[in-house]
Amino acid sequence: MTFKPAKWPRDLRSRKWFAGTHKDAIYHRGWMKNQGLPPDLFDGRPVIGILNTWSELTPCNAHLRDLAEKVKYGIYEAGGFPVEVPVFSVSESAFRPTAMMFRNLAAMQVEEAMRGQPMDGAVLLVGCDKTTPSLLMGAASTDIPSIIVTGGPMLNGYYKNERVGSGTHLWKFSEAVKAGEMSKEEFVEAEASMSRSPGSCNTMGTASTMASMAESLGMALSGNAAIPAVDSRRRVMAHLTGRRIVQMVKDDLKPSDVMTKEAFENAIRTNAAIGGSTNAVIHLLAIAGRVGIDLTLDDWDRCGRDVPTIVNLMPSGKYLMEEFFYAGGLPVVIKRLGEMGVLHKDALTVSGETMWDQVKDVVNHNDDVILPADKALTQSGGVVVLKGNLAPKGAVLKPSAASPHLMVHRGRAVVFEDIDDYKAKINDEALDIDETCVMVLKNCGPKGYPGMAEVGNMGLPPKVLRKGITDMVRISDARMSGTAYGTVCLHTSPEAAAGGPLAVVQNGDMIELDVPNRRLHLEVSDAELAARLAKWQPHHERPDSGYAWLHQQHVEGADTGADLDFLKGCRGNPVGKDSH
Ligand code: FES
Repeated sequence: MTFKPAKWPRDLRSRKWFAGTHKDAIYHRGWMKNQGLPPDLFDGRPVIGILNTWSELTPCNAHLRDLAEKVKYGIYEAGGFPVEVPVFSVSESAFRPTAMMFRNLAAMQVEEAMRGQPMDGAVLLVGCDKTTPSLLMGAASTDIPSIIVTGGPMLNGYYKNERVGSGTHLWKFSEAVKAGEMSKEEFVEAEASMSRSPGSCNTMGTASTMASMAESLGMALSGNAAIPAVDSRRRVMAHLTGRRIVQMVKDDLKPSDVMTKEAFENAIRTNAAIGGSTNAVIHLLAIAGRVGIDLTLDDWDRCGRDVPTIVNLMPSGKYLMEEFFYAGGLPVVIKRLGEMGVLHKDALTVSGETMWDQVKDVVNHNDDVILPADKALTQSGGVVVLKGNLAPKGAVLKPSAASPHLMVHRGRAVVFEDIDDYKAKINDEALDIDETCVMVLKNCGPKGYPGMAEVGNMGLPPKVLRKGITDMVRISDARMSGTAYGTVCLHTSPEAAAGGPLAVVQNGDMIELDVPNRRLHLEVSDAELAARLAKWQPHHERPDSGYAWLHQQHVEGADTGADLDFLKGCRGNPVGKDSH
């Protein structure tokens, strides 16, 4: 695609606030000047919002104020007028009941912050899991020129001289404690080694995945995803991003010019190659819905099916983001997709160049981190979309994090009606369960939890762990942390709280998982299933006020991205009435 810049100077939207000598303009400019701003900043240069998700309760983003300063340097240098604007920061590690319930609220706040204020362009300063999709969703709904820069991953963690991956080792160590292989004291000691520098999770968890999705969509400068948070080159990336957004405004290069169907297909294939998080499925579907792109679960299965997972990072492999950066990072992976013939090479990026132009000359510096195709972790790395009478609208499974011997499995259901039921029963030695069973967790979807928590990789019962067993088939309407692993069927749709078939699975039912044939089947007759569904009564929590109520009333299914129904689509950026 060849990008044709618009004629400059254009009629910038910020001029509706700041241009002229009338009362309204003086009101808008005058109040801004209490910050000591020279008058020529209001002379018609692009006003760039640095939308900052900095928060000390979002530790993964706690260093972003420093990066914002570097973004400002770049904006000033390029002739823009930077304004740093705090936006809703959704912390993965702190928000209850789950950060996911607030992704859409954050996206709504970002959208209105962009549209309602004098911004001609935006730098989206993000890092932790939900901050990246929520800001991309908000920017997509306004279609104001926007570019992402992420905070970067933490440095490698080490405990007793072994790599410790954020999240991944939390699950591993907690299972080891349950199995009696690790003491509580060692667990606490390991805690400090998991997060030894500023930055987001250092595994290919959801934060690193979403940074990679932003880059493969073309919404970040090439190479952004993997630079460690504390590396000086992260600051350079922020500086260059600031420079770039000013030119994007001049060229009127908008999110809708970059986030095309081809760009989403590039991102889906990239997700397969990196062994990315299943959360990317929900977030990309939601972002596409904001741009108005018809992206479906079937696109995920179609595009990812034959792409090998070549990035050897936890939770699928053994390394961490720091090593991925030293190996060459995401541009090497995207180049590899191009060489495999599965990349839309002409996809436009925020740099103004095509995706291929950006990556065609990069070099892989470590074949054990970014693997040759014949040594891939799995040849079919894409997120698998399962369907059947248990998941009429689909469920997803990540093959690179699953156990090959469980990919075809038939087992007896052990049912947990909700997460509290699971917690009450799982450690009970009398629970009738062994490793051949299928664990089923209900009422943890977008409406059910509410918010769709990351509890799908529910821990195994201690009596199974003590046998040395580390994986069982698990099915739920929940999500799973991108740092987690296991043969876990997630996002089962429709969810139990919406009356999906998952709601009526009973203890003792037989369930068949057949990944090669994309099948998830409950072995009861159609008549029996219909009879059970006719008698079904909702079991989940139902808030009667506040945002939780709004969310539960309007959230859509995981199969379409779990956005709020009234927020889908692009509403553009009309300037609106002045209030003075
Ligand atoms: Fe914030 Fe993982 S918890 S990036």
